Formats: sequence, C-alpha cells, structure tokens
Amino acid sequence: MVISLTGQVALVTGAGRGIGRAIALDLASRGAKVIVNDLGMDVSNKGGSEPVADSVVAEIKALGSDAATNTGSVSDYEAAYQMVKQAMDLWGRLDIVCSNAGFLRDQAIHNMQPDDWQAIIDTHLTGAYNILHHAWPMFRQQSYGRVVLTSSNSGFVGNFGQSNYGAAKAGLIGFMNVLKLEGQKYNVMVNCLGPGAATRMTVPLMSGAPGGEERLAKMSPESVAPVVTYLCSPDCKDSGMIIEASGGEFGRAAIVRNKRVAIDAPDADKIAQQWAAITSLEGAEPWWSVRQSWKDHLAEMAK
Ligand SMILES: NC(=O)c1ccc[n+]([C@@H]2O[C@H](COP(=O)([O-])OP(=O)(O)OC[C@H]3O[C@@H](n4cnc5c(N)ncnc54)[C@H](O)[C@@H]3O)[C@@H](O)[C@H]2O)c1
Repeated sequence: MVISLTGQVALVTGAGRGIGRAIALDLASRGAKVIVNDLGMDVSNKGGSEPVADSVVAEIKALGSDAATNTGSVSDYEAAYQMVKQAMDLWGRLDIVCSNAGFLRDQAIHNMQPDDWQAIIDTHLTGAYNILHHAWPMFRQQSYGRVVLTSSNSGFVGNFGQSNYGAAKAGLIGFMNVLKLEGQKYNVMVNCLGPGAATRMTVPLMSGAPGGEERLAKMSPESVAPVVTYLCSPDCKDSGMIIEASGGEFGRAAIVRNKRVAIDAPDADKIAQQWAAITSLEGAEPWWSVRQSWKDHLAEMAK
C-alpha cells in the first residue's frame, strides 16, 4: 500500500515547530498542500514572535509541494475561520485538519491562576472547536474529512502540575467521541493522538529521565508524524481511536467498561462487599456511544 495525499489540502496548527512541523512535512511528502499555522510564540505563550511557519512553508516548497503561512491564534474564533478560508481561497478545499497547536503553563492546583487555566483551555480545547466548527461544513459538502486532535497522556492518566493541560487534553477525547458520531454519515474520521517527542516543550521535562540523550534522540517528532499521515489518509477508516506514538512505538489506548454488577436493593454495605467485582476490569471493552450503550443495556435487561 502506498499512501497518497495528492490533491488534498491540510491545515496543521502549531506547525512551525516540533510535532506539528513534522506532521506538516510528512503530509506534504505524500502530496498534500498545507496551511502551516503557527503564532511563533515562546513555550508558555507569553511573548516573542518568530516566523517559524514561514520556514516550514519554505521546507515544504523545497519538497515540491505547496504551502502557505498562517500566523493566527487557534484560540481566536475569527482567526480560526480565516485559516479555513485561506485553504478554501487558495486551493478550493480542505480535507485534513490536525489540531496540534499548544503550550504549557504548569502549576500545582493551589498555585494555578485563572489566566493559566483559561489560556490552556482556550488553546488546546476551544482552539480545536474553533477550527472544526468552521471546517465541518466543507467536510459535509465534500463527504470527506480526516481529523487528528493532538491530545496527551496527561489527559489520559494525569501528570503532576498539569490540571489545566490534562483537563484540556482529556476534553479532546470527549470532543472526538462526539465528532466521530457526527462525522460517520459524511466519511469524516476523527482520531486523537497521544504523542511523545523531544521538543522544546518536553525536553526540559524529560531531562534526567531514564535513557538520557539516547532516548531523546530516538523520540524525534519525525518518528510520530507517519501515524498521523496514516490517520489523515483515505486509507484510514477508523474513527474515535486514541493512538499513542513515541520513539518509533505505536499503540492504542481506550476508555473501557467492565460488565456491570447487578445488586438488589443496593446499599453502601453491599457496594463495599462487591467493590472488587464492581471495579474489576476483567473482560472490559471499549464501547461506541451513549445510544449504543442504552441499546446494550435494554437488551441485557430483556434477557
Ligand atoms: N512533545 C510531546 O512529547 C508531547 C506530548 C503530549 C502532547 N503534546 C502536544 O503536542 C502538540 C505539539 O507540541 P510540541 O511538543 O511539538 O510543542 P512545540 O512547542 O514544539 O510546538 C507547538 C507549537 O504551537 C504553537 N502555538 C502555541 N499556541 C498557539 C496558538 N494559540 N495558535 C497557533 N499556534 C500556537 C507554538 O508557537 C509552537 O510552535 C501540543 O498540543 C502538545 O500539547 C506533545
């Protein structure tokens, strides 16, 4: 199988550096035209402005594909509209959205200021909404779309000091779960990425971790990008998946549910007695939707 994105148009946010840059270049290497969005801010988004998107555009053009710079902020609803419009004005379509822009403002909860909370939610979670709200009508019209939302293990299982970031990244899982249903009829596949890569965001957090320099070298953003390209291709028919990618290793994470335990006239003592069974994950499986779980529940009760 040879994955081709020839004739397709992608919008990659936060594509001036790190994982976003690697994704933009990998998509372009398969023939996609790319809107390279990046504000070029410093790592906590408090200042600085570097023309990082321009240099990625130049790299893509050197590969023989086409690209254009966008320096809007994903947290700005109107700027997000302009990103989508730019793709439509330049190339008449939009097939792929990689919502990847982000930054960190880590603080333990008692030190987390309202601005640190809100800025992270606005970029990682609301930013994804801002882009997809505007892109979705194109997807419906084309009966085609591929979306990858860059989430994080911090949202799946937690990372100390990242209550803002973990909440936003877990929010993307819920966002994906709904969009996978809304996109089903229109051939729009929406998946989440849980990456691990040595970038300016993570190298300071990883230093001192087991494996040292050798591990960091293996964890290049370029080792993450190919799975995103696959998820963004017509060949990918899966939606609603959480895919982990780090250092050349790939896998799936999922929210699973176990088989429920029926308890007659439940009270706290009976719950305590059955706690091991209630919380056992033996035989647990992922499930698809609220509607599906109602159906399963009704079928179970009818037995
Ligand atoms: N690197 C990792 O191991 C790792 C792990 C889990 C999740 N992530 C996520 O992956 C994504 C990329 O991170 P990275 O490690 O490549 O970081 P990075 O700092 O190298 O790149 C992020 C880019 O996003 C841009 N950006 C920030 N806010 C923006 C905004 N409002 N609008 C447009 N652009 C904006 C920045 O200017 C920066 O160039 C982020 O969402 C991050 O949370 C990274």
